[in-house]
Amino acid sequence: MGSPLSGRGSAGGKLILCGEHAVVYGHPAIALGIDRGTRVTLRQTGEPLSVVDADGQALDDPRLHEAVASLIPDGWEARIASDLLIGRGMGSSAALAVALVRAEADARGLSLTAEGVHERAFVVERKFHGNPSGIDHAVSARGGVVRYRRTLAGPEITPLPIPSWSLVVLDSGNEGNTAQLVAGVGSRRPGIDPLLDRIGVIVNEAEKHLDDVGALGKLMLENHALLIAIGVSTPRLDDLVATAVECGAAGAKLAGAGGGGVVIALTTEPDDVLARLRAKGLHGFVCRPAPPRAQA
Ligand code: PMV
Repeated sequence: MGSPLSGRGSAGGKLILCGEHAVVYGHPAIALGIDRGTRVTLRQTGEPLSVVDADGQALDDPRLHEAVASLIPDGWEARIASDLLIGRGMGSSAALAVALVRAEADARGLSLTAEGVHERAFVVERKFHGNPSGIDHAVSARGGVVRYRRTLAGPEITPLPIPSWSLVVLDSGNEGNTAQLVAGVGSRRPGIDPLLDRIGVIVNEAEKHLDDVGALGKLMLENHALLIAIGVSTPRLDDLVATAVECGAAGAKLAGAGGGGVVIALTTEPDDVLARLRAKGLHGFVCRPAPPRAQA
């Protein structure tokens, strides 16, 4: 073998500001690419495919292995480094899918279009979730703040301005199972359809008030109440939302599929809110919306 080939790719995580679950049924959602993400480094080894962490330790999660193997053949090592919480609604599987697609193209010396990245990453992400709306990998691939809507003709992605606020992210400490939660919501339809419709209305209002922290915070709280009503929240997530508001956040909600995962708290003073949360024994971190990426 000549000098071994290699490739690198990276992608950001995402947080859903409002509209999760309803987005699966054609309602809009607003999501933001964040300033945290995943990097993949591929190295040709000539050995069976290996998937390792940033320190070179084997990652033996079978689903992860299957997802990597759907794109990367034997003969390669895939090294994955991420500062996203895994399985917590921060788009970790989508960021991995997009970073893998980019690393594989880099190793082959190919340049991909944005559509090419999107299509190939969707195939990988389906290994993690049965019926994804596509919002996770669309936002992971392009960054920025977007309104996303699934239509029969394909995804409708509208870039929105980058707002000036920050989000404090609080981990519930549990993973939610996205596929099960999405299936559970599906099984409660059509009874809950008016609640999903109301979430769609909230998203439209949020888009109009994206830089009005007071109004947006109230809409997030209403969105959280509707997520409780459709059966995807937990007492722990509800407590975190209430505590974030007590600590000065303008609003808060679960973000992602629920059942665990994270709560996001909206604020223009993240350090103050974090300090108050810490005084109550809670640990969080600050995420800022990431600007859109220049290249595919
Ligand atoms: O993967 P998560 O936990 O961020 O959830 C994605 C958002 C859902 O609307 C619940 C599902 C989807 O595919 O849109």
